[in-house]
Amino acid sequence: MTMLVSEPRRQQQQQQASDFKEEILRLKEEKDVVILAHNYQVPDVQDVADYTGDSLGLSRQAAQADRQTILFCGVHFMAETAAIISPHKRVLIPEPDAGCSLSDSITVEELRDWKAAHPGSISVGYVNTTAEIKAELDYCCTSSNAVKVVDSIPAEKEILFLPDMFLGSYVAKVTGRKNMRIWAGECHVHAGITPQDIEEKLASLKDSEFVIHPECSCTTPMMYDAASGGFGDAKKVSVLSTEGMLNHVAASPSRNFVVATEVGILYRMRKQNPTKNFVPASENAECQYMKMITLQKVYDSLLNERSVVSVPPHIADRARLAIERMLEIG
Ligand code: 13P
Ligand code: SF4
Repeated sequence: MTMLVSEPRRQQQQQQASDFKEEILRLKEEKDVVILAHNYQVPDVQDVADYTGDSLGLSRQAAQADRQTILFCGVHFMAETAAIISPHKRVLIPEPDAGCSLSDSITVEELRDWKAAHPGSISVGYVNTTAEIKAELDYCCTSSNAVKVVDSIPAEKEILFLPDMFLGSYVAKVTGRKNMRIWAGECHVHAGITPQDIEEKLASLKDSEFVIHPECSCTTPMMYDAASGGFGDAKKVSVLSTEGMLNHVAASPSRNFVVATEVGILYRMRKQNPTKNFVPASENAECQYMKMITLQKVYDSLLNERSVVSVPPHIADRARLAIERMLEIG
């Protein structure tokens, strides 16, 4: 049910948001803080960020940041990744309970058992994993470099890929790798986007391109269609990370796009491409964990310098190896 907001109330909310933004910008200079935000963050939070991007871009920004404190507006595993990469900096997260269903889909005990059952295999884990899991990995990867990471591993080596089964099947298909075992985890937001949602949206927006995130459950059948030049009413299908989507739609001569990922990405897409049309594959594709971070929480976090994200050094040191291997590959 849509709640109607009266005009005076709307103006009051706008004024409050603008006051928070002004104070956040002042505090971050005063306290030497860089604000990083994932592409799924709410628009107000993206507006105060120094950098908004995908998991890979945010990892790189965390590594390069020249400020003493990183305020990470994203889910917990992302802030942990920043803390692992930058052990001498302080990392704050505005909402420490911002979790991730995908990262919850494997425990460290399950991973240890899986590795023990496949001695000699190489473990490749998506960045959407806890620090403890990363400490067990040979390589970390994100949606934008998973193919490159897998391609860099000698062909004869068996690979354990975790935790996202759709990203895993996508990578296995693109690389042609036959010796990849894939963990059966999923993200509830992306897995919830159905082929029916997509067909309806493509039919409603004529002459549209279709961009899809590899965490989507329909990625696997879509790839066959993508390889043959299209899907349903779409004139072109591209499987991309969130930042890859933003780059692709900006460069494409097309005007209409159906977008299959979390709806937060539409804010930047529309802002950067005001003459193009973007329709979400599903309006319900909203990550409640990402949306736990609000402008007020960003302000409180800066003001009170909390919540600090810390990873025990014996875990961080091992996890860093897997992340650094990934960053070296691309
Ligand atoms: P990207 O790395 O493509 O931004 O995707 C990450 C993701 O789904 C985080 O939830
Ligand atoms: Fe995790 Fe899915 Fe939310 Fe991304 S969209 S943070 S994978 S639950």
